[in-house]
Amino acid sequence: MYYSDEVVEEVRAGNDIVDVIGSYVKLQKKGANYMGLCPFHGEKTPSFSVSGSRQMYHCFGCGVGGNVFTFLMEYENFTFPEAIRQLAERAGIKLPEEEATPEAKKRADRRMRLFEINKEAAKFYYVRLKGDIGKAAYAYFKKRGLSDEIITRFGLGYSDKSGRELYRYLKSQGYEDEILRDSGLFTFDEKKGVYDKFWNRAMFPIMDGNSKVIGFGGRVMGDGEPKYLNSPETMIFDKSRNLYALNYARQSRKSYFLLCEGYMDVISLHQAGFTNAVASLGTAFTGLQANLIARYVKEVYITYDSDGAGQKAALRAIPILRAAGLSAKVVDMKPYKDPDEFIQALGAEEYEKRVQTARNSFYFEIDVLRSEFDFSDPEQKTNFFRETAKKLLQFSDELERRTYTEAVAKEYQIGFDLLERLVNQYGSAAITGEEQKESVYKERKKQKPEAGYYTSQKLLLTWITTEPVLFEKVKDIVTAEDFTDEFYYEVAKEVFEQYEKEGRVTPARILNHYETKEEQAKAAELFQTTLLGELSEAQKAKAFAETVRKVKQNGIEMRMGRAAETGDLEAMQRAVTEQASLGRTLAKAGL
Ligand code: CTP
Ligand code: MN
Repeated sequence: MYYSDEVVEEVRAGNDIVDVIGSYVKLQKKGANYMGLCPFHGEKTPSFSVSGSRQMYHCFGCGVGGNVFTFLMEYENFTFPEAIRQLAERAGIKLPEEEATPEAKKRADRRMRLFEINKEAAKFYYVRLKGDIGKAAYAYFKKRGLSDEIITRFGLGYSDKSGRELYRYLKSQGYEDEILRDSGLFTFDEKKGVYDKFWNRAMFPIMDGNSKVIGFGGRVMGDGEPKYLNSPETMIFDKSRNLYALNYARQSRKSYFLLCEGYMDVISLHQAGFTNAVASLGTAFTGLQANLIARYVKEVYITYDSDGAGQKAALRAIPILRAAGLSAKVVDMKPYKDPDEFIQALGAEEYEKRVQTARNSFYFEIDVLRSEFDFSDPEQKTNFFRETAKKLLQFSDELERRTYTEAVAKEYQIGFDLLERLVNQYGSAAITGEEQKESVYKERKKQKPEAGYYTSQKLLLTWITTEPVLFEKVKDIVTAEDFTDEFYYEVAKEVFEQYEKEGRVTPARILNHYETKEEQAKAAELFQTTLLGELSEAQKAKAFAETVRKVKQNGIEMRMGRAAETGDLEAMQRAVTEQASLGRTLAKAGL
């Protein structure tokens, strides 16, 4: 789909970049910009900057950058049109009707048919559950304490013993083998023919955030292996990007989600009034799922099984949640195994108390760490404090780090001063490591001979776009042609045109012209510099004049070179004149 420049710009302007990125990354105001931990590379101190005035972001650590579209493309792995659609929806902007390519149409049609098939299957299983065939399954759900209302709400069902009924039914509805094969609901066997993947199982339809059925989990009734069978991934079922019951949890109006391991846990919690419970889909919790959650809430209470496996899974989920900017707590359900069993035994009120007293995820991690060391052995005790000190370093905010250091020191009875010294010791070691890396990088940069010119061009672009006064100074001196790299030239041309037409520049708009993330990042980088804020007025004026001179000089040289190459005498003459008068021109402009 091709969207016109006007539409693209309307969508961009309708989505404030600080708001959008702020919903994914924890940002803190620092001067004119916002800073946070870069979501695109691991780091402990924030080098990810978002500018409200420029409507762009840039990471000084890993170099990514762009506008609000680039961000979604990088973060959500969206294509450019997908990013536009998402942001248009967010801003309530109606996009022009899509004129799809034949392949896109075919894909969309297949997806639609797969949604239909899953919906038909869910209805089919649900009807079976309520009929004679499903008596045993219905009794099973009842035995597990589920009300008719909750069975309906989650669309629970039953796949009968024959193992062929669903296939027959869908064929009778006119679905061809080809699409049925893609649905993941059937096994196609050369000898035995086609049969239903799920048979004699209690069925849990899995819905996406919009309540569309995308797959199933099927549980054996009673004991048996495997306990749960899940639909394979299909065109519409991506296990790493969906969460069980998200369609309900997102409407719960709670400020946090309860993260469970199992479908039954979620259903039990919802029945008990905790409609903010979700679970991953039979696979480990992923960063994409954390991002999904971060769209709705800022906090997650992990309520995994109390056993060792559950604890391990929680330890794995905590950093994933943190990386998505979510704060995490861990609910203790001992002596019960999981939320389902807890609620059956003690009820909703007691569970709510456990939620209220849930352990901050950092303490939870330290508790687990503590259990791995034997304190009667001085060496192990020392190692425990070393590990704890390292962990404390994850708090980049000084106050936060201090508070946690204090709390840990108190709880494990070690002197605060000692622990803090340990933390600082590891902290400075980590910083030195980073500095070294950086200087190697700088070294490499220096080796590129033309780099100096490009830096000047970049600097100039940043300055004239942030300060219109500076543009006024150079508008009759510098032209887009002075930007010697083709890419810089295009961007500069746009900057000059915008000034000309509107008297101001919106750099983020320039990025609209670039459809790939790489180009957007490259363009965004042209507007990034931190130099300006740290200079005195006099230093700034000097640096600016110097920059203009360099850019101009380089531009003239390039034009001379080109004229010599092509033998264009007229162009050569112009360049020579330009060169001769450059000093005067600059001086006249006070540069
Ligand atoms: N799971 C799975 N395959 C299995 C076992 C478990 O996919 N063989 C997934 C299911 O999504 C299940 C979750 O892991 O919901 C948690 O497993 P478990 O704790 O065993 O399930 P419970 O939800 O406690 O199941 P139940 O209470 O029905 O025994
Ligand atoms: Mn259970």
